[in-house]
Amino acid sequence: MADITTNISTNKVGQVLHLTLDRPEKKNALTPAMYSDLSKALTQAKGDFDIRVVVISGAGSAFTGGNDILDFLNTPPTGPDSPVMQFLAILHDFPKPLIAAVHGNAVGIGTTMLMHCDLVYATADAKLSMPFVSLGLVPEAGSSLLFPRLVGHVIASEIFLTGRTFSGTEAHEMRLVNEIATDPLSRAMEIAAVIADQPPTSVINTKALLKSGHHQAVAMVMEAEGELFRIALESDEAQIAFMKFLEKKNKG
Ligand code: COA
Repeated sequence: MADITTNISTNKVGQVLHLTLDRPEKKNALTPAMYSDLSKALTQAKGDFDIRVVVISGAGSAFTGGNDILDFLNTPPTGPDSPVMQFLAILHDFPKPLIAAVHGNAVGIGTTMLMHCDLVYATADAKLSMPFVSLGLVPEAGSSLLFPRLVGHVIASEIFLTGRTFSGTEAHEMRLVNEIATDPLSRAMEIAAVIADQPPTSVINTKALLKSGHHQAVAMVMEAEGELFRIALESDEAQIAFMKFLEKKNKG
């Protein structure tokens, strides 16, 4: 793919585009440049008739450790034009099927992006978490609407308010994950090939219909979350939490 320059690897297998979050030495923590490249890849995939499905996975031992915490400190997102917000908007509007293959940690946006995927495969021992509150932040990517819709208010509250990690198995029970697989990437590619073989316009229209009931509502929630998130990033609560992460890292 043209212009993909950072830690995002692309590989086309038949009519399936496989995107890998490829910064394994940092648990695939996402930087602004990586968000920009993901946006570019999805935009190109949207316009390419020969790409019917996109699969996302992580290199090494994790799906992703979430947003790079150093970037939260040094180059925090400033508004709707920031790379992370652009990526989330493109993800939300992406018209073709998106399939995630999850293993290891899927922190923050690593879990919330799954709510925008159409199918999700995970290992039983995958570690999902949305520790926004623990970091002095608020939920993002429409998760404050999508997660309680999926799992109900009390489970969503418990997970958001405690920041606890939950397993792939628990995510499967919550219906955030389609199926537990020992090799989620192989399974995701297998199902992607089946979907890529279906009539493409019918696939796109069906995805649009499945999302039509809440598409606009999610966009509005994402905007509200984005504003609160940006304010929260500068709060003492968040700055202290980021410093704690860096101190732990420097000690370890
Ligand atoms: N931002 C920046 N660096 C990160 C990162 C992130 N979100 N996630 C992992 N890394 C880095 C670690 O600092 C470490 O770097 P180092 O080798 O230079 O010290 C490297 O990736 C490996 O991570 P490590 O913490 O040693 O692996 P682990 O298996 O013990 O723990 C995590 C993995 C993901 C649980 C842990 O790294 C973590 O909690 N990361 C932060 C997650 C987070 O809060 N993200 C923001 C969500 S909004």
